[in-house]
Amino acid sequence: MISLGIESTAHTFGIGIVNEKCRILANEKESYVKKDSVGIHPREAADFHYKNAGKVIESALEKSGVSWKEIDLVSFARGPGLGNCLRVGAVVARTKALLHKKPLVGVNHCISHIEIGKKLTKAKDPVTCYASGANTQIIALEKERYRIFGETLDIGIGNFLDVFGREIGLGFPAGPKMDKIYFTAKNFLELPYTVKGMDLAFSGLLTAGKQKIGKFEKEDLVFSLMHNAFAMLTEVSERTLAHTGKKELLLTGGVAASKALREMMEKMCRQRKAKMFVPPRETCVDNGGMIAWQGLLEFKAGKRNRIKDSRILPKQRTDQIKVSWKN
Ligand code: FE2
Repeated sequence: MISLGIESTAHTFGIGIVNEKCRILANEKESYVKKDSVGIHPREAADFHYKNAGKVIESALEKSGVSWKEIDLVSFARGPGLGNCLRVGAVVARTKALLHKKPLVGVNHCISHIEIGKKLTKAKDPVTCYASGANTQIIALEKERYRIFGETLDIGIGNFLDVFGREIGLGFPAGPKMDKIYFTAKNFLELPYTVKGMDLAFSGLLTAGKQKIGKFEKEDLVFSLMHNAFAMLTEVSERTLAHTGKKELLLTGGVAASKALREMMEKMCRQRKAKMFVPPRETCVDNGGMIAWQGLLEFKAGKRNRIKDSRILPKQRTDQIKVSWKN
């Protein structure tokens, strides 16, 4: 069985083609956010996706060596995400499904990150720390639902890092540069640390960091800001492990690439005798492969969307979906 998946929740338009063993035959994409960009304008991002959709599909088909005849289903991300962008993926998915007479399966973007991460790392039942530009959530499976145990109350951790990086002149993407700077700092500066119950907030930390620009060494500022943000994330992940009794942590999303974050999470996992898993980078960032895999899992469990039941769901949450599939 072969699944074609379409990702278009935000800046990335991605097409993935995977088989039943989760072999990724192609995972092509184009990103609206280029070097030194200043953020996402939803309508412009959607225009970008419309312009690039055909090209990305063609290159995925070519790379995989698979023809439409061999594809068994078309899946797409219904949400959560930016409405304008999601709509492009949905329109492309419906069009291709009708044109080539394939079943259509709409899936949740966050759950797709988790399921492909589990499959590729062989994690069985992890607590997932999903840390990306727009999303920051600590999720774990409980009674047939992926429950969100903690999440950001304002901005995503990736956006937080990018905004601060831009303020200090690192351009976009700032994350990898900040990750290097992190290890060169000498002093820790006191900054806000905001965990409210199990939720997190980054905007106070960002404002305080901005106010200190020019008054302290750049290295110390970057280190202290990242250290607090990552410690907040690690604290909530640890408390979720303690509460659920689970022994695995899956770290995914674009920020999972951070060495600083990995080191901190690893240390916490070691102390708790939990095992940490990080999927390959191409599946941590937004990609069509994870959507294809999630579509395939749900299709095998009997799910199909009729065209009239395939509207986008920009605010869809993981716990709205009953986990009916086996991975
Ligand atoms: Fe994502």
